Amino acid sequence: MTKTLIRARTLTFTRAPSSLDDEGAYLYESDGALVVENGLIAASGAYAAVKAGMPDDIEEIDHRPHLILPGFVDTHLHFPQMQVIGSYAANLLEWLNTYTFPEECRFVESAHAERIARHFFDEMIRHGTTTAAAYCSVHKASADAFFAEALRRDMRMVAGKVMMDRNAPQGLLDTPQMGYDETRAVIEQWQGKGRNHVAITPRFAITSTPEQMSAAETLAREFPDLHVQTHLSENREEIDYTCSLYPDAIDYTDIYARYGLMGRKTLLGHCIHLSEREMDVMSETGAVAVHCPTSNLFLGSGLFPFRRLTTREKSVRVSFATDIGGGTSYSMLRTLDEAYKIQQLLGERLNPFESFYYMTLGNARALSLEDRIGTLEPGTDADFIVLDMAATPAMALKAEMVDSLADELFLLQTMGDDRAIAETYVAGVAAKAGL
Ligand code: GUN
Ligand code: ZN
Repeated sequence: MTKTLIRARTLTFTRAPSSLDDEGAYLYESDGALVVENGLIAASGAYAAVKAGMPDDIEEIDHRPHLILPGFVDTHLHFPQMQVIGSYAANLLEWLNTYTFPEECRFVESAHAERIARHFFDEMIRHGTTTAAAYCSVHKASADAFFAEALRRDMRMVAGKVMMDRNAPQGLLDTPQMGYDETRAVIEQWQGKGRNHVAITPRFAITSTPEQMSAAETLAREFPDLHVQTHLSENREEIDYTCSLYPDAIDYTDIYARYGLMGRKTLLGHCIHLSEREMDVMSETGAVAVHCPTSNLFLGSGLFPFRRLTTREKSVRVSFATDIGGGTSYSMLRTLDEAYKIQQLLGERLNPFESFYYMTLGNARALSLEDRIGTLEPGTDADFIVLDMAATPAMALKAEMVDSLADELFLLQTMGDDRAIAETYVAGVAAKAGL
């Protein structure tokens, strides 16, 4: 059981920052250290204090002057859409039908799914994302490929075989019974294997019949600890079409509520155009509104009402995500930069401490995984990243002007991408160096 000490500046959050000068929301060490042992953080804090409690001959890795943060968490993306990124479409439904559904049909082939899974995990590590909540395709083979690769890399991942039984090409349809049986098989095979978490994943109400929604409800009852992930209220045309398919429901959110799919482990992609009633239901059930800014801009879906959701009396839990391949970047830095700009258009501010809180602990809390990830606390998974605010010549030039932690974070968010991730540690191992 070898211990390794890793020295750098360190930053970890303890709660959501309420303002730019809310120093109680985080712990920052200008000369900090972590000790990793058996894939976990064994100690963290000021270098001198951490070092004093360790054997004199402990191996030391020095990342100064860089900044260590918990690994980024991405709460919504599609692993079979890596080759869909940047498809030229006017809106969501055209994009799905013209590019995305045909592409996902290819994942019936295990060899293709396995190849893309390898690329997927490479990109996660390259961009400093150590946990993600992913959609696979409808094919069980795609989930098998995904979870096998996650296990091989020893990464903590949430993912699900998509359930969809209508309004898509034949090669992308299961049936209510198949969706149920194959999801159960994926759960039995992969849940808790390594650091894998299986999510019940009906794609959205347009592609699931009421019978399939009932099957998803049965699964959610049988496995109440699992995540449920789907899409909600992304695009006006989508909302109208969805409501026409479920005429008895009060609104889009009510469809998922009627099938028992709303709860604290429910992740709802997009949630841009919710009514006050729907926000109330989100709040009461604890379901999470997952904001996907680069996707919302790329597909012209709308401007996510972040402040309205988080500050109303019945507040809604919120997280952030890339939504590859509707989204255009794997980077959570790029993602929060676009989130910032969306809030600017709405006349609201998103401060850099909030952004970095969401990339780490906030998103971990949205996944109910804050006891394992999203923090540098001893006892949690040793998934963390090393950030370099001078990673490019242009960043280095701007870095000359940085004289506070807030400035540094804002520079990383505004100009950073995978090049700013100097290293990604997965279970205590330098994984980016190994790519
Ligand atoms: N709604 C249903 N499926 C999808 C998808 O793959 N991407 C996005 N952005 N929205 C969806
Ligand atoms: Zn999505």
